[in-house]
Amino acid sequence: MKNRPLLIAPSILAADFAKLGEEVRAIEAGGADWVHIDVMDGHFVPNISFGFPVMQSLRPVTKMPFDVHLMIAPADPYLAQFAAAGADIITVHAEAGPHLHRSLQAIRALGKKAGVSLNPGTPVSVLEHVIDELDLILVMTVNPGFGGQGFIPSMLDKIRQARALIGGRAIDLQVDGGITAKNAGEVARAGANVLVAGSAVFKGDYAANIKAIRNAAAVTA
Ligand code: DX5
Ligand code: ZN
Repeated sequence: MKNRPLLIAPSILAADFAKLGEEVRAIEAGGADWVHIDVMDGHFVPNISFGFPVMQSLRPVTKMPFDVHLMIAPADPYLAQFAAAGADIITVHAEAGPHLHRSLQAIRALGKKAGVSLNPGTPVSVLEHVIDELDLILVMTVNPGFGGQGFIPSMLDKIRQARALIGGRAIDLQVDGGITAKNAGEVARAGANVLVAGSAVFKGDYAANIKAIRNAAAVTA
């Protein structure tokens, strides 16, 4: 059973970087809950996005929480800088380093919410012994690195497994990759309560896109 509110977190990876501040204001006005910030290092994933200066520039633009998805390895040496740059939630990949428990403790010691992201090939079981150290589980529904990819249907079962592991704990269950108004219902039914969407939000009417995803997820919530 879900014990957390339904939240929509647009990924600014799909925004127009030439006017990023306006893009963030537009999703806030359009009803977004969190800003999903995809940081890529060209090492953990085969793409490079942006980092601290972009986050610092955006921080005064919005009151929305910064949901920072670190696709970087190692992550530990940079956690304090991400916190200082305005992160509210910091999510590391389970595959990014050998000391997941330590990473989560470091994030919480910075006063931030701690998340763990799982690549499509990584089982939920890697979280069993750190479940009380985290605030968010991110089930990747594509292979990380690029926006605009297709949702991997076999991840629905993983979402259900993650929801079962969470039980009654106050932990958000996030999905990221290929989320649209068409599949929002099934991921919500499987147990996800935070839906990341990039390409499905940043086209045409952002407010209408956010609303469509929210409505599709809420019907089954
Ligand atoms: C992929 C990123 C996602 C991506 C989602 O590595 O983590 O957040 O921006 O983009 P869409 O919604 O277009 O799949
Ligand atoms: Zn992401």
